[in-house]
Amino acid sequence: MKRILVAHDGSKASEKALKKALAIAETFDSSVTIISVIPELYLTELMEMDRTRIVDTLTEETKRMMEKIRKAPKKVKSLKTLIRQGNPAEEILEAAAKMKADVIVTGSHGRHGAQRFLLGSVSSKVVDHAECDVLVVKK
Ligand SMILES: Nc1ncnc2c1ncn2[C@@H]1O[C@H](COP(=O)(O)OP(=O)(O)OP(=O)(O)O)[C@@H](O)[C@H]1O
Ligand SMILES: [Mg+2]
Repeated sequence: MKRILVAHDGSKASEKALKKALAIAETFDSSVTIISVIPELYLTELMEMDRTRIVDTLTEETKRMMEKIRKAPKKVKSLKTLIRQGNPAEEILEAAAKMKADVIVTGSHGRHGAQRFLLGSVSSKVVDHAECDVLVVKK
């Protein structure tokens, strides 16, 4: 368990996932990378200007969130943050492959999901396609 990748979308569930990942990292002396993906906007009726503005706002929000995480006191040997743009599950899987993650940690749910589903679409796609283990932290 050398390298842990945590998927963080700003939700309570992913905050819980991060806490668990940090606890595991402390125990196993692992390095932690946290990824947050700014989703592509598919809404065709959006004007390009609005699209840009929304992406900019989301990017700012995500940067602030990552900074807060980096500043919080913790006892892990290495902590990195990544911000990507695109399809969340695909970006998470690509980052995991690139860093040769031993485990990906996600929340069971995120910011949008219908709670009646067992898993959100991002965590479910990650579980289906990851080449490494996946830890889905339940709320
Ligand atoms: N944009 C993202 N960037 C990084 N991690 C994400 C992102 N979206 C989701 N995740 C990860 O996946 C977990 C589950 O979120 P997911 O998006 O699958 O569920 P949901 O928002 O409840 O439902 P859905 O998005 O399918 O409507 C989150 O707790 C987080 O760990
Ligand atoms: Mg979601």
